[in-house]
Amino acid sequence: MIKRPLIVANWKMYVNTPEEAKKFTSSLRRKARSFGGVDVVIAPSFTLLPLVAAALKGSSVKVSAQSVSVFETGAHTGEVAAAMVKSFGASYSIVGHSERRAQGETLEMVRAQIKHAAAAGLVTILCIGESERDQAGAYFTTIVEQLRSALSEFKKDSTPKLVVAYEPVWAIGKSAADAMKGPELREMSIFIKKTLAEHFERKAAMRTPILYGGSVEASNARALLEEGDVAGFLVGHASAEVESFVEILKAVKK
Ligand code: PGA
Repeated sequence: MIKRPLIVANWKMYVNTPEEAKKFTSSLRRKARSFGGVDVVIAPSFTLLPLVAAALKGSSVKVSAQSVSVFETGAHTGEVAAAMVKSFGASYSIVGHSERRAQGETLEMVRAQIKHAAAAGLVTILCIGESERDQAGAYFTTIVEQLRSALSEFKKDSTPKLVVAYEPVWAIGKSAADAMKGPELREMSIFIKKTLAEHFERKAAMRTPILYGGSVEASNARALLEEGDVAGFLVGHASAEVESFVEILKAVKK
């Protein structure tokens, strides 16, 4: 059964100027009625975050950072802390995206970000995912390792401010044809729920939304949502243009 789908636009470094961001947000607001019933979050770059938050104020669309610093405050040149993005109107932060893990972000750094995001009152969108799949199923070990490590930052008896985004690295940045298929996704979604239930109380585990990311486009969104047993998507390239993003919102709405 599909509840209100949650769709997060991960702009990465695709939407880069104030003009592009303004065009996107004003168009999104104009089209808002066409995707009623869908929870939408936009994750712009740090530089565009204040602008996007201001432009979406008063709408139902929420804002996320793409990452936060592993530090809380102080002498850390070039860093942006969780509390800083919160003060500019973000209510979420993506943490541990594979593109950042590939840059050297470790399990420990992911935990530090979760800690600061939670302290700042942000919901963590935790990205997990294997680089490749093997016959023997070793990729499940990667998932468990990433998940358990991150979960250690959340109290067992809590209702965590957490969204899990399962993004197999091999499916990212391609086209709908290369995305994961529904039945495989369902298997992973069940596995993630089981792992969450080993940490949290059952109710809290079941309430934690699991998103899928990796080449989600309007053409595969509906099937992935229904067959994959996920709560929504983390969308990369198809979120860079408002038209293709809104098509996804419409596809999951029905
Ligand atoms: P993609 O990116 O939709 O371009 O595959 C998803 C992501 O990396 O979050």
